[in-house]
Amino acid sequence: MDYLEIQGGNKLNGTVTIDGAKNAALPLIAATILAKHPITIHNLPPVNDIYTMLKLLENLGATYTYKDKQATIDATTINNTTAIYDIVRKMRASILTLGPLLARFGICEVSLPGGCAIGQRPIDLHLKALEMMGAQIEIKQGYVIAKAPDGLKGATIVFDKITVTGTENIIMAAALAKGESRIINAAKEPEVVQLCEVLQDGGVTIEGIGSDELVIYGTNRELVDMKDFTVIPDRIEAGTYLCAGAITNSAITLKNVNHAHLVSIILKLQEMGYDFDIEKESITIKPASRIKALKISTTEYPGFPTDMQAQFMALSLIAEGTSTIEERLFENRFMHVSELNRMGADITLNNHIATVEGDAKLYGADVMATDLRASSALVLAGLIAKGSTKVHRIYHLDRGYVKLEEKLQKLGAKIKRAKE
Ligand code: UD1
Repeated sequence: MDYLEIQGGNKLNGTVTIDGAKNAALPLIAATILAKHPITIHNLPPVNDIYTMLKLLENLGATYTYKDKQATIDATTINNTTAIYDIVRKMRASILTLGPLLARFGICEVSLPGGCAIGQRPIDLHLKALEMMGAQIEIKQGYVIAKAPDGLKGATIVFDKITVTGTENIIMAAALAKGESRIINAAKEPEVVQLCEVLQDGGVTIEGIGSDELVIYGTNRELVDMKDFTVIPDRIEAGTYLCAGAITNSAITLKNVNHAHLVSIILKLQEMGYDFDIEKESITIKPASRIKALKISTTEYPGFPTDMQAQFMALSLIAEGTSTIEERLFENRFMHVSELNRMGADITLNNHIATVEGDAKLYGADVMATDLRASSALVLAGLIAKGSTKVHRIYHLDRGYVKLEEKLQKLGAKIKRAKE
């Protein structure tokens, strides 16, 4: 297993290029199941979750090539509709194949993803919505077995909670259903928007894109004339590098960003005292003269993202005074707290609210990555800790960050990958 070793205390400078958004790419790869012909996807980030999704499609009978961040996927050859446990257990987002497989084939079996480090993460809302569209669903031996022999029918769905992959699954199912589907309380994340746009470019009529109410006019099982597309920039990768600039109080520039997707993150950093130069596709963060404590409550887009909570917790360690961070989406998403405390932080947890004492003097330690974003928070803390920090179990990081250590090295960080 690999680990990262970081020597803290260096300022950063220079430019980093942001890759395509993993969380946009995963549903888009699943959406190729609905395509009439092979699709080429540009700016596909070479991270493990993407390889897992491509493997899953291959296991279903699709073929693909993937080189230089460009994949061509031919899902027309799919001849098996069982998403097996061995692949699904590696990545919860595999559940994104459920909607499109059922819509196209009228039958499928997808292994239940199970819990994960950051919380229970049920899929009840995905299943309830598919049932509203006429699917018969049973859970047997760890698999969701879904049937809709006469195809899915359009329906009005009100999500009890806003769910990103749930909304994406139902958008894909509705695209091939018979008649009109209305999704109320839909997720509005930029990743959901891109999925809608790609389907719309392929001829599926969708109203309300970017709002919390979507109307999708299904094709009655006619496959979609999807066009090739480019994955949007990763707002969470961008946010993580902004935090790297902020925590080292350095000036760094991010290229290939869509700053409209970063508003809540930029505003928080501005509240803390950082300044920005914003251009069309790039953004520069500049040092702050004073770094103020912050108050964060994670929520759905366009609010502050849960996927940036851990990184901002690391950042709040250098602020003046006490910060509070409330996690409202995932009950266990605080695994980084004890690891940060091992580095000398003073963070206390009360249910889902963390209180972080600023002006921390961190020292290097051996720490354990527990989930994808918690891992990047530990790397950020390592950048300012005195001495050497070793972040173990970085397979979590490799699921979602493209060459994190190489990008940080280019910015001047002392970080290297090594084997246990
Ligand atoms: C997606 C993102 C993840 C991000 C999260 C929230 C992908 C691949 N992953 O995850 O990085 O942290 O959105 O922005 O895009 N819920 C239910 N029942 C369901 C579905 C969800 O109770 O059937 C709950 C969840 O437990 C959670 C909340 O709804 O409390 C939101 O979860 P959801 O938006 O579904 O997260 P994911 O789509 O899994």
